[in-house]
Formats: sequence, structure tokens, C-alpha cells
Amino acid sequence: MIRARITGTGSAVPEKVLTNFDLEKMMDTSDEWIVTRTGIRERRIAAEGEYTSTFAIAAAEKALAAAGVKAEEIDLIVVGTLTPDFPFPATACIVQQALKATNAFCFDLSAACSGFIYALSTADKFIRSGQVKKALVIGAEVLSRIVDWSDRNTCLLFGDGAGAVVLEAQEGDHGVLSTHMHSDGNYWEILYQKGPGNRKPATHQNVDDKLVYLTMQGNEVFKLAVRAMGEVAQEALEANGFTPDDVTLFIPHQANQRIVDSVGKRLGITGERVFVNLDRYGNTSAASIPIALDEAVRAGRLKEGDLLLLDAFGGGLTWGSALIRW
Ligand code: ACO
Repeated sequence: MIRARITGTGSAVPEKVLTNFDLEKMMDTSDEWIVTRTGIRERRIAAEGEYTSTFAIAAAEKALAAAGVKAEEIDLIVVGTLTPDFPFPATACIVQQALKATNAFCFDLSAACSGFIYALSTADKFIRSGQVKKALVIGAEVLSRIVDWSDRNTCLLFGDGAGAVVLEAQEGDHGVLSTHMHSDGNYWEILYQKGPGNRKPATHQNVDDKLVYLTMQGNEVFKLAVRAMGEVAQEALEANGFTPDDVTLFIPHQANQRIVDSVGKRLGITGERVFVNLDRYGNTSAASIPIALDEAVRAGRLKEGDLLLLDAFGGGLTWGSALIRW
């Protein structure tokens, strides 16, 4: 059976660090409040001249190097992002140009914080069908440019960066075992960016009225995230005949320590088996799982045969999981 196997990972984040103590000087908040409610201590912020593609390209280069794959061998590039460089062309095409991945077809995919799982799932299907042999799957964001820095309810949660994986078609039992995706459009208004777009074009008035930023009903998102992430993780395990005890490493979307803890507790996967780096990066949306995965791989947390569970939730609402035999 042909499976999509992750043969290389990479990640890239901005150099600029914004700590909770820096935020204390910018708004009415405290390190204590932020750490207690979210677990976040600092986040990375893109500098002028750094874009979503900047980090996507750097992460992709590292993933290609780790896999020992040349850019021209890549058949497909998918970028999961809610902060593309431009509405069009796809950021994936900008990545293609920089890498000289001339043989790839490229597109972006919009599933908010679930973007990486959706992108991984899409690339997996192309590989299983035989249409693609090697793919680059990237999650990349510059969220710092769509948050309202005067809104203490949202701005401190998010950060910038990118993670990437090389997926290769391989015969055998290793690789992506299954992916599971769900959406519920009934809740799109609890987490979205108001503009610019068709509904709120980039007029001076809309910018002055702050109709160009991310908005969120935090409590509602919290409750729905815990339930959905728990269910979709369970779905992946059951579909493959596993229990939570079989999971070697669980990488949930890095939104908030309390969400991660609640989901882990629901599943019965806790402690060392849960990978967390949100204290250093905040919520990087579609980039959060691939950045965490790259750090886990480079820290030697995964060895051949291990069972890896990925789990995401985001605006849309969208949520999804992936079960991978490493
Ligand atoms: N600093 C200090 N006080 C604050 C801050 C701040 N930055 N922000 C809000 N407060 C105050 C509020 O004004 C409120 O005060 P009041 O009681 O006097 O009115 C109090 O703190 C409690 O506010 P809540 O919004 O009820 O705080 P809550 O415990 O719900 O925490 C949070 C807010 C952290 C946003 C939480 O709801 C959450 O984590 N939600 C999940 C959201 C999330 O992770 N979204 C990411 C996108 S989706 C995803 O990736 C899964």
C-alpha cells in the first residue's frame, strides 16, 4: 500500500521576541494574567520586510535539506495559511519561485488554525492516488499584522512563524495512517477576520473603524475547541484500532495551555507524551503543529515505528486530526 511518509521537517520563526513583560508596557495586562490564562510567555513577531512567505521558504528549505530532497523533485506545494502575503497569487507560488521548485503545482488552503492538518490531508490524498510522489506541506502565518494591538483580549495570544514537512510516497506501513476533518459554518462568527474582503473592502473608513482585524469570542472558542479536539482525536484512534495508550507523542494545536491540558485529560494522554511549545511562540495558527513537530523531531522525540497524533481546531469552525506511524 502506498502511504505518504514524512521524510523531513523544518521550521522558521522571526528573531524578534515579544515577552509578556514587553506587553505590560504596551497595555493594561500582566505576565501573571497571561501565563495563568494561556500558558504563553513570549511570542515571535515578524520585522518589517518579513512576510508569511519569508518563514514558509526558510522552513521549506530546512525540511528539504532534512529529507535530502531537491526542490525540483517536488510535485506539489500546499501552504495552509490565513495570512497569505497577498489575496492572490497563492503564497505557495511565491515559495515555489524562491525554491525553484519548477515541477510543482501550488496552492494555498484556508482552514485557519486547522490549515496544516487540512493541507497534510490534501497532500496525503494526492500521494495515495498516485498523482504526486513528493510534496511540501507548509503551515505559515504572520498573525501580528491582523491583530488589533489595542485589544488585550486577542493580540497577546498570537505569534508568527512557519513549519514545513516533506511528504514522500512510500510502500509499507509507515506514514500517514488516516486524517479526519470536520467543519461547522454555523459558528464562523465567533472567530474571524472582519476584513479587508468583499464584505469590508480596504477603504479608509473600514480601517478607521477597525474592521480589518481578527475578532474572537474567547470563552465560546475555548469550550468548542476542547470538545471537538477530543472527539476528532478519538475518531483517529478508533479508525485505526488504537487506544490513547498506544500514542507515543501527541501534538495538539498550540493555542492555549488550558485547552491542551483539557484535551489531554479527556483523552488520557498527559505529561511527557504531550508536546508543548506555546509558552515560547503563542498561537501561530496553521504554523503551530508543524513548528512543534519540527522541534519534536530535532529533539529526538520520535523514533521509527512511533505513533504520532496531531490534532487541530480553528476558525470556520474547522477541526481535524492525523494519525501517523513514524
Ligand atoms: N490582561 C488582563 N486582564 C484581561 C486581559 C488581559 N490581557 N484580557 C481580558 N482580561 C480581563 C477581562 O476584561 C475580564 O475582566 P472582568 O472579569 O473584570 O470583565 C477577565 O480578564 C476575564 O476575561 P475572560 O475573557 O472571561 O477570560 P478567560 O478566562 O475566558 O480567558 C482567553 C480569555 C485567554 C482568551 C480564553 O477565553 C481562551 O483562551 N480562549 C480560547 C481562545 C483561543 O485560544 N483562541 C485562539 C484561536 S482558536 C484556536 O486556535 C483554538
